[in-house]
Amino acid sequence: MANVVVVGAQWGDEGKGKIVDWLSERADVIARFQGGHNAGHTLVIGDKVFKLSLLPSGIVREGKLAVIGNGVVLDPWALFSEIDKLTGQGVKISTESLMIAENTPLILPLHQDLDKLREEAAGKAKIGTTGRGIGPAYEDKVGRRSIRVADLGDEQTLDDRLDRLLAHHDALRQGLGAEPIDRDALKAKLQEIAPKLLPYAQPVWKTMAEARKAGKRILFEGAQGSLLDIDFGTYPYVTSSTTMSGAAASGTGMGPGAIDFVLGIVKAYTTRVGEGPFPTELDDADGQRLGERGHEFGTVTGRKRRCGWFDAVLVRQTCAISGVNGIALTKLDVLDGFEKLKICVGYEIDGVKYDYLPTAAAQQTRVTPIYEEMDGWQESTAGARSWADLPAAAIKYVRRVEELIQCPVALLSTSPERDDTILVTDPFAD
Ligand code: GDP
Ligand code: IMO
Ligand code: MG
Repeated sequence: MANVVVVGAQWGDEGKGKIVDWLSERADVIARFQGGHNAGHTLVIGDKVFKLSLLPSGIVREGKLAVIGNGVVLDPWALFSEIDKLTGQGVKISTESLMIAENTPLILPLHQDLDKLREEAAGKAKIGTTGRGIGPAYEDKVGRRSIRVADLGDEQTLDDRLDRLLAHHDALRQGLGAEPIDRDALKAKLQEIAPKLLPYAQPVWKTMAEARKAGKRILFEGAQGSLLDIDFGTYPYVTSSTTMSGAAASGTGMGPGAIDFVLGIVKAYTTRVGEGPFPTELDDADGQRLGERGHEFGTVTGRKRRCGWFDAVLVRQTCAISGVNGIALTKLDVLDGFEKLKICVGYEIDGVKYDYLPTAAAQQTRVTPIYEEMDGWQESTAGARSWADLPAAAIKYVRRVEELIQCPVALLSTSPERDDTILVTDPFAD
């Protein structure tokens, strides 16, 4: 059976949640493998809207197993507030339907403090993080001082971990002019949440291996996007995890052979939240129109997303780096009614042409996009459910995108609604 990894191929918010929800009908296990509650995935199912940050989007379908893998950084308080919210919306969540890897590092309030203190101290050089403590939590993981889910089961271990962690954080906080951590209060908070969290803790790698052996279909749900990747993104204006497809294996405890199909989620134009270079960003009426028609406001922070034309150079690059086999092109309907559309087909930096985005920050900020102009379409594509419903100019646009990014369209999305999705190639097909 084929296993599918879904990754964002731009700067996040490409519509991963909608596509994962649609695909999860065909899957048995849906697993998150990186990121944390910095993600915001919106699902629209009939008259219900679900906003998910930490829980895999498959959670809303009954009879599926939702998994949070070790590659995620987990804020247990955020987890239970999300569980409560979804339960209130009628979603059934139990230890039968949700499993969390025992070796998942926790995000603690001190990580959020540090995230915010650093951003404030950085002033103009800030990254524009979500303030969820993601970066500091990953730093502690790599620094070998995290408290992980399984550590909550033993008081001595928890004490040892707290000593190590607080020695580091108190020193940092002192430098940033913040109060030291109240160790007793933090320990009590952790001991209070432990009995709620521990029943979900499992050796996820083992479940994944068994699922694979039993021929179950696994859907890996990426968060953020390839241009926010810690290595390949627009560093330092990135998130702190590996957002590329390869992380699906290491972030759940599987070998790379477990991945059969990589589906890149691609918005028909480009958006970005937070700071950092954005070659095709528009400050004009077209940019405003994209933002308004696309409702481009962040799910997590409510921030206005920056908008721009489709950048084929970047998507070709991220498809190569993530080994994307096919894309889901989303929000095509947002382009309805434009007289002309532009696609970025190359860059010029100081008079030199490039067919990729160079790594050097100084070059990234000096990029001039080279555009190709195409005719728009006046008909509505909103809610289209077959190719036959699409105007010729829209089909031409999609075909040109495929050609430029050197990757075929497997799915096309024409509205936020679950079923307004056109299937071209089934990613799960063997
Ligand atoms: P994610 O972070 O990649 O899951 O994306 P978000 O959920 O943050 O942002 C995508 C937004 O676009 C959500 O509000 C979706 O409901 C919406 N959306 C998804 N696909 C489409 C589409 O094809 N057309 C339109 N108009 N909206 C879409
Ligand atoms: P989904 O899964 C868009 C951005 C933040 C900031 C940078 C670092 O909904 O696509 P962080 O809090 O991760 O340290 O912030 O990354 N960012 C996202 N942008 N979509 C997301 O997730 C994002 N998660 C983080 O805005 O620029
Ligand atoms: Mg989002």
